[in-house]
Amino acid sequence: MSTTEPASTCPIHEFNHYAELPFGEKLARYDDLRDEAPVIRNEFANGHYIVTRYEDILKAYQNAKVFSNTAVTVFNPNPTFRWIPQMLDGTEHKQWRKQLNPLFSPKNVEGLEDKVRERAVSLIKSIAAKGTCDFMQDFALQYPSFIFLELMGMPFEDLDKFLHWEDEILHVSGDAEETARRRGVATVELTEYFRGLIDERRAEPKDDLISKAIAFEIDDAPATQEDLESFCILMFMAGLDTVTATLGTTFLYLSTHQEDRQAIVEDPELIPSAIEEMLRAFAIVIPSRKVLEDTEISGCPIKAGEMVCLPLNLATRDESVYEDAKEVHLDRSPNNHIAFGAGPHRCLGSHLARRELRIALEEWHRYIPNYRLSPQSHPTESGGQLGPNGNIILEWDV
Ligand code: HEM
Repeated sequence: MSTTEPASTCPIHEFNHYAELPFGEKLARYDDLRDEAPVIRNEFANGHYIVTRYEDILKAYQNAKVFSNTAVTVFNPNPTFRWIPQMLDGTEHKQWRKQLNPLFSPKNVEGLEDKVRERAVSLIKSIAAKGTCDFMQDFALQYPSFIFLELMGMPFEDLDKFLHWEDEILHVSGDAEETARRRGVATVELTEYFRGLIDERRAEPKDDLISKAIAFEIDDAPATQEDLESFCILMFMAGLDTVTATLGTTFLYLSTHQEDRQAIVEDPELIPSAIEEMLRAFAIVIPSRKVLEDTEISGCPIKAGEMVCLPLNLATRDESVYEDAKEVHLDRSPNNHIAFGAGPHRCLGSHLARRELRIALEEWHRYIPNYRLSPQSHPTESGGQLGPNGNIILEWDV
């Protein structure tokens, strides 16, 4: 139970964001919260507020002086660590982003095109002849991991080691104590791995993100070793599971909506707008902020020190902004969604993510156009973001 006084003007719930539910149920639950009130007091975790409507959510993201990134999960309002750049505020954050942004510009990301496509094709070809696959295990987890290794300059032979850490840190579920222990062990191992890699790149710089970050200057001094490690950890958290989860929701949707799947096969030019629509309709990220001064959202007073949760799906499925918001229209235009966030912390990797998704959809539909969801599939979702955990079995005729 919460130790703080809930505000009287907003309904009170005990909504476990993290619970494991059949895929889609959580999204429906969020939609209900939006219909109920603009702000909900949630007694789950340490107690926090959920903001449910587009305008209020956007305003909070854009007001970083009041809505701070120094704490970003509702479980932990006073973290003793800081992931970089996500948990930085103010000028320190600006300095990191100024040096990072050019590395993730559309032009720079274009340079990865051939390698990304090569990897997508080789993975898809290895699957195509089988007539079936476990989509998350066989494709959605491996593909972004490869790209991450490439970007960070990590050796490809480390893929299995890396997939293991990814599983232990981002996907392990069950008994809370055991989960925390395993996550802790894997985080220590991953940090040590990054520490070694940073040392290697200091001695012998290469053309990769780690070598470039080593040369960053913050407050006129080189970025510290500790900050570089926190940066690597954040890149791992931000760049992998997001693409995996978006691939999961996209292929789950297309494999159960045959007309839309067929539309993509017949007209691959539809893919970029289809991706935007998947990002909007199933926006997976659920960021939170720490309130730094007493404030008020749509009549609900919120005290300094409280956490507010700003789920992006609540903004991107708001009927007052998007017509027919809960329906998927692959050719929706305009589709000015905020699935990559808004304000100073808007996703650094959005151009890369879009390219990864586009290449995956292009190549998949070229080699495996006629797939469907096997009746054995029972996808669920759990954890800090939306998106299927696994169990998406696809089948096709060979
Ligand atoms: C479909 C895939 C992706 C989605 C939906 C997504 C979404 C987001 C969102 C919503 C945020 C803002 C979080 C907040 O406000 O607290 C964010 C931040 C971030 N994302 Fe992404 N992301 C994706 C892929 C990537 C990729 C591929 C990378 C890099 C390789 C990346 C790197 C980052 C970083 C570094 C931040 C922190 C930015 C900051 O705090 O200044 N993301 N992402």
